[in-house]
Amino acid sequence: MSSNTCTMLLVAFLLILLKNTIAKPVTFDLIELGAKPDGETDSTESFLSAWTGACDSVKSAVIYVPRGRFLVQRVYLGGKCRNNKILIRIDGVLVAPADFRVAGNASNWLDFHGVDGVTISGGILDGQGTGLWDCKLAGENCPVGAATLTFTNSKNIVVSGLTSLNSQLFHIVVNGCQNVKMKGIKILASGKSPNTDGIHVQFSSNVTILNSKISTGDDCISISAGTTDLWIEKVVCGPGHGISIGSLGRDLTEAGVQNVTVKTVTFKGTTNGARIKTWGRPSSGFVRNVLFQHITMINVQNPLIIDQNYCPYNKDCPGQFSGVKIRDVTYEDIHGTSATAVAVKFDCSKMNPCDDIRLEKVNLTYKNEAAAAYCVNAAGTASGMVVPTSCL
Ligand SMILES: *[C@@H]1O[C@H](CO)[C@@H](O)[C@H](O)[C@H]1NC(C)=O
Ligand SMILES: *[C@@H]1O[C@H](CO)[C@@H](O)[C@H](O)[C@H]1NC(C)=O
Ligand SMILES: *[C@@H]1O[C@H](CO)[C@@H](O)[C@H](O)[C@H]1NC(C)=O
Ligand SMILES: *[C@@H]1O[C@H](CO)[C@@H](O)[C@H](O)[C@H]1NC(C)=O
Repeated sequence: MSSNTCTMLLVAFLLILLKNTIAKPVTFDLIELGAKPDGETDSTESFLSAWTGACDSVKSAVIYVPRGRFLVQRVYLGGKCRNNKILIRIDGVLVAPADFRVAGNASNWLDFHGVDGVTISGGILDGQGTGLWDCKLAGENCPVGAATLTFTNSKNIVVSGLTSLNSQLFHIVVNGCQNVKMKGIKILASGKSPNTDGIHVQFSSNVTILNSKISTGDDCISISAGTTDLWIEKVVCGPGHGISIGSLGRDLTEAGVQNVTVKTVTFKGTTNGARIKTWGRPSSGFVRNVLFQHITMINVQNPLIIDQNYCPYNKDCPGQFSGVKIRDVTYEDIHGTSATAVAVKFDCSKMNPCDDIRLEKVNLTYKNEAAAAYCVNAAGTASGMVVPTSCL
């Protein structure tokens, strides 16, 4: 080797060393911070000190959850976090307290507030919700329960390859957030579990949900007031109540929902497929610019449904009409089987009829024959082959 080459190698080596010292994130390993991977010892303190360490770090930080089960109580993850590059890398399982009366009075378990630049990668969150479901199903006096993972007023969030098991209440909630990307999410809870929505989005913009599989007892994805620029692609849903925009219009003054794309989704044995649901009462809310595209229905009870007469217990709405204006909703390339005779049901508001509803290339069958369609106060167009015949 010439001395020239030698010098060059040495310089390269020093540069790499320098780069690593500067760029290498600080790591907070739960076990090094005293946590026990036995699923029983309370590891909340270790988790919180990892969070505080990461937040206080000026360099990008990694919170590492090794293999094993770590019991963590309800935690508030927010406050003064000055780091906008935090990666929570999970190889193991975070376990909620089995006694639902402990976490159940808080509305969430892993509760992120006002954070910017948090990524969660891999791992399992075990909400241990079965006890609470049993309590609710038995009609006892039970706490509402805690949502497993919530992001409130946060931005630039990524969740990838995460599994959420048996949440007490909603699995993942995105509330008041911007720029959220979720991919490769698995959500698993019994089809009979109450109020266990998979992913709930509200008052948020630019949220993307990709390549995910959701099996649960309520909506796979629920989209509430104030959601704009939502993109859902390659999701398999079932069991569950489908992908639902709503319920909307419960309040007189309410933010609308717009620019929602739901594409390449399979619904298997769900109660609904693509649903828009509003209360039958006055409201300033609206729904517009929605696309449902490339959807497969397998034995779905209400494959395409707009219901503007939602009025549980017939309380505070009979005789009134939904104020939510629904317009510009496209259903394109929708095919498969309905579990009931009526596969397309657009039951819109008498005061605010649905406008610009478009059906393109729809083929939904019931018992091997064309299913039926039912429209009230709905206007729009049909193009390409549409089965059942459009009632717009
Ligand atoms: C939770 O709330 C219920 C009803 O509000 C109350 O009876 C119970 O003591 C609370 N449990 C805890 C652990 O705070
Ligand atoms: C939307 O969010 C993604 C990250 O998920 C980001 O790259 C993109 O710039 C955001 N778009 C807008 C318009 O803010
Ligand atoms: C609709 O939302 C998508 C992201 O989901 C975004 O890329 C697009 O620019 C938005 N379109 C409009 C018209 O705002
Ligand atoms: C509609 O779907 C059914 C069941 O998959 C199929 O038998 C039928 O040929 C389709 N109709 C058209 C016109 O493609």
